[in-house]
Amino acid sequence: MTTLFTGFRLGGLQLPNRVVMAPMSRVRAAEGGLATPSMARYYAQRATAGLIVSEGVQPSLIGQSNPGTPGLHTDEQVASWRQVTEAVHTNGGRIFAQIMHGGRVSHPDTNGLRPVGPSAVPATGEVFTPTGPQPAPVPRALDTAEVPEHAASYAEAARRAVDAGFDGVELHGANGYLISQFLSSNANLRTDRYGGSVAGRIRFAVEAAAATVDAVGAERTGIRLSPGGGFWGVEESDVPELYTALLTELSGLGLAYVHLEATAPEETLLALRRTWPGALVMNPVLPMGAKQTGRSEADHWLGLGADLISFGRAFIANPDLVERLRTDLPIAPADEATYFQGGDDGYLTYPAYQYTA
Ligand SMILES: Cc1cc2nc3c(=O)[nH]c(=O)nc-3n(C[C@H](O)[C@H](O)[C@H](O)COP(=O)(O)O)c2cc1C
Repeated sequence: MTTLFTGFRLGGLQLPNRVVMAPMSRVRAAEGGLATPSMARYYAQRATAGLIVSEGVQPSLIGQSNPGTPGLHTDEQVASWRQVTEAVHTNGGRIFAQIMHGGRVSHPDTNGLRPVGPSAVPATGEVFTPTGPQPAPVPRALDTAEVPEHAASYAEAARRAVDAGFDGVELHGANGYLISQFLSSNANLRTDRYGGSVAGRIRFAVEAAAATVDAVGAERTGIRLSPGGGFWGVEESDVPELYTALLTELSGLGLAYVHLEATAPEETLLALRRTWPGALVMNPVLPMGAKQTGRSEADHWLGLGADLISFGRAFIANPDLVERLRTDLPIAPADEATYFQGGDDGYLTYPAYQYTA
């Protein structure tokens, strides 16, 4: 029987267990989008995960969504990440970088640049800026000739990630960011080859994935998707058709894994699982929903055919989450107030489980 604690071959890596640390932005990077010694300690503390997926990392300045997030588009950023990857590897772990281009979910006050998107349609809600939340601006619609360079930026960041010592990359194709905006039927109103039909709307995702495979190899490339997820106002009017077409194209590229969020009904997700022959990482609860991933959700999805399970919030307050799950120890609650602020507090301050007599 498959359990969380049996090994798994993922691309070129042998994972000791099936517990994945889900990508979580903690916005504690230094000026210039640099990784810090605290980030190295944070990830190293969690190195018993079968695989760590880093927080979202911007592949370009214009791809930066939030203040305080790290990048992979300058030499200084590459150098700063080496302390992180070395610390994780020294502690026996494996880490992929999540490449996240925010597209329209960004603000000039954050990076000095007008955001771009598939169409001049703003995200719904407020985006984070250095002075607090502000209404999402209207993005500039990318010209057809500009789209390939944004797709290629994922691949360039992937090359830099490998140079920085990451074991691979996960393209952020979920949660309303740029790839997800292209997939969407209301954020993408384009009439060129990157919009309109399902084949047009999946093109950006497929080109970004194909370029990344060319750059670092399929065994080092994963992608995260949130079928039907309504983040930042994105809608997809045709989820089964859209994601069946996308997964069929991605199958041809032989990616290391697809990381699905539970943003669609279970039967839709199961049908998509049957379309995708490769490794499936499942994040079994609604992102930011009331319920966080725990042992029972994980076992449920392993039973349904997921290969690996990603845990987000549980990793924040439980650096030794794998051991706690394995030995049925209590899972400590995380302090939401320090998710996105607080420096080392609520970041490095959660201990491994301590037995008390
Ligand atoms: C503080 C925080 C930051 C997050 N940042 C990201 C991110 O950068 N990229 C991403 O794909 N998902 C992000 N997520 C979503 C998580 O990866 C995960 O899908 C979500 O927390 C639900 O899983 P859980 O119940 O195990 O926490 C974030 C979640 C939290 C709580």
